Amino acid sequence: MSLRPEIRFAPFSTPTEGCVILLAGEGGVFSERAKEGDPDSALDRAAAEMKFKGKLAGKLDILVPGGTNYSRIVAIGVGPADKRQEHDFIRIGGAAYAALRAGQSATAVLDAPDGPCSTDEVVRFAMGFFMRSYSFDTYKTKKKSDDEDNDEGAVKLTIQCDDPDAATASWKSHMGVAEGVLAAREVVDLPANVLGPVEFADKAEKLSEKGVEVEILGWKEMEELGMGALLGVSQGSERPPRLVVMRWNGGAEGEKPVAFIGKGVVFDTGGISIKPAGGMEDMKGDMGGAAAVYGLMHALSARKAKANVVGVIGLVENMPDGKAQRPGDIVTSMSGQTIEVINTDAEGRLVLGDALHYVRDRFDPKFMIDLATLTGAVIIALGNEYAGLFSNDDDLAGHLMAAGEKTNEKVWRLPLGDAYDKLIDSKNADMKNTGGRPAGSITAAQFLKRFVGETPWAHLDVAGTAMGSPKNEISSGWASGFGVRLLDRLVRDNYEDGEA
Ligand code: BES
Ligand code: MN
Ligand code: ZN
Repeated sequence: MSLRPEIRFAPFSTPTEGCVILLAGEGGVFSERAKEGDPDSALDRAAAEMKFKGKLAGKLDILVPGGTNYSRIVAIGVGPADKRQEHDFIRIGGAAYAALRAGQSATAVLDAPDGPCSTDEVVRFAMGFFMRSYSFDTYKTKKKSDDEDNDEGAVKLTIQCDDPDAATASWKSHMGVAEGVLAAREVVDLPANVLGPVEFADKAEKLSEKGVEVEILGWKEMEELGMGALLGVSQGSERPPRLVVMRWNGGAEGEKPVAFIGKGVVFDTGGISIKPAGGMEDMKGDMGGAAAVYGLMHALSARKAKANVVGVIGLVENMPDGKAQRPGDIVTSMSGQTIEVINTDAEGRLVLGDALHYVRDRFDPKFMIDLATLTGAVIIALGNEYAGLFSNDDDLAGHLMAAGEKTNEKVWRLPLGDAYDKLIDSKNADMKNTGGRPAGSITAAQFLKRFVGETPWAHLDVAGTAMGSPKNEISSGWASGFGVRLLDRLVRDNYEDGEA
């Protein structure tokens, strides 16, 4: 993984040299403070020449501006002040990182024409800057800079702002969240020969260094619990399954936890109902739900969240093999309900059915939210923009949608209902694992609903948002880390002691 930037905060003072990042407001105008180091008005002239209008996260590059001591000025647009949204400064920070060269040092002056940035804006800028630094280059033996000098080191950024002490304090916890996002991206990017169930569980185990209690269940323990649905998926793989239980106890003692459950199929061949070859390599990311839960536990522990949180991830590999389950097999889940496996490629719901029941049975949580790269159908419905949201609880759904708007990790609610539920009734068992082509994401959610009882529950289908994501200001593409910021925000805004 590429080097993380080193970020520090300092009071405003006119930078006299080096690379400077400035903010430009609507119309490409700069603040008086931004122009202090530019007595020659190189900024205004360059903006006019390039018709730079300060559009949100837009960039104007002025190399070696004459009449100043700077080596380079990068202006990033902040758009109109009255239309600014909470997550905009994350994008602005990401755009700033993308404008720099590897190993470059820079000073960002966070003063917009409408005034100095608030501490929240400053810290979000830093988050975007930090998140954009991720690229999956572990297996590139020839770095891009091979013909230049190869040890450029980390990007160093000094952020000038109104209240550097407040920003430094706030950055500590926000950096933990950004690190959680990158941890999630990394496990999604890692290929399945490197990251199997055991290797993923080992990574999760390391969260214990941050104060997370981690328990790991293997085949035998899950067999004793009666997890026939999860184990049925795993049985075609040489590599044993793991169920990882992570607990962060930052809330009041004895207070019921909130729970997050992730689908962690380290590779999904489809099993005996094997997938076509084209694009199958993307199925290394079929643990994007588990990645989000793992990244979230990192984030919550790093920022010492005042909440009791359980994170459970079901880790398996779906392979065709002499021991693999067949279409038509009937398995018994931990809940006692039987399932006819019509299609071995509808494996995620089998894993989650047991994981959801386990969490409810053992922890009796306030609510459960599962995340899963569950269906191709949700990509057809919502593309890479929104995750599909399904819930039996309007309050919980509302909280998720609100957190989605604030973080720009957006969710769109789709319906549940008895007519859909009927489609997964089976002739030969209590239910079957597919409901046919129509409403494929909904029938998958109905399947999960049969394992949650009365517990408030939401399901996020992240097949289109956790992986295959387009490049944007805060991500170089494919693995997005979707869900970490969303759920961190959900917990922070609704379920932490003493915080609104
Ligand atoms: N992991 C896939 C869903 C998926 C597809 C995720 C594309 C990301 C990108 C899931 O296990 C799957 O195969 N679902 C099937 C269900 C069907 C067999 C009922 C699907 O969506 O086709
Ligand atoms: Mn599948
Ligand atoms: Zn899958």
